[in-house]
Amino acid sequence: MAKLAPSLLAADYAKLGEQAVKVTKAGADFLHIDVMDGHFVPNISFGAAVMKSLNHYETAPYDVHLMIEDVDKYAEDFATRKTEYITIHQEACTHLHRSIQHIHSLGVKAGVALNPATSILTLENVLEDLDLVLIMSVNPGFGGQKFIPIALDKIEELASIREENKLDFVIEVDGGVVLNNAKDLVDAGCDILVAGSAVFGAEDVRKRVKEFKKIIK
Ligand code: DX5
Ligand code: ZN
Repeated sequence: MAKLAPSLLAADYAKLGEQAVKVTKAGADFLHIDVMDGHFVPNISFGAAVMKSLNHYETAPYDVHLMIEDVDKYAEDFATRKTEYITIHQEACTHLHRSIQHIHSLGVKAGVALNPATSILTLENVLEDLDLVLIMSVNPGFGGQKFIPIALDKIEELASIREENKLDFVIEVDGGVVLNNAKDLVDAGCDILVAGSAVFGAEDVRKRVKEFKKIIK
């Protein structure tokens, strides 16, 4: 059964706590936390202080997606008691292996994200160290973009590499995920689906989470 991680990037920032609780109660498995620094991606979202405020609410665990440079400097701020994964970008890390070890040293699971133009072969030497691989299906920086189909091929390829090598990282997809492509993504090998606008843009957010969960179960 695949899991759903609604992205708070598409939520109403004035009601973050309330919305995080709402999706959690509806069945969200993780809260996807998109952190953007205005350098690695051309947008600025929110930082660790905002995420830490959510610790006061009863929510699903955090799935932190760092779209930032200098991950070694900031990762620790995001390793809270509710953090399950911290995912960093392959493209943002000069010493990727070191940064993965650093995340593990903080006591959380480590993921690496790949932009649409980055081959999964770039992770060959670190796959064994990873708990999660995030396949970006849009160019990171903004919510509400259209799904880029090459992501589906990358997921299939990654799932077969995982099987051949008996590895156990989870595969996550992020960007342009909607009800219509959810089943194909799970069939291709995805374990976690991130959905921002498809969840928080819905008229009835609770109902939308349940619709997703029904499709990906
Ligand atoms: C994009 C972010 C995504 C974004 C997805 O840079 O990493 O998590 O919130 O939004 P949707 O689901 O609207 O494409
Ligand atoms: Zn994301």
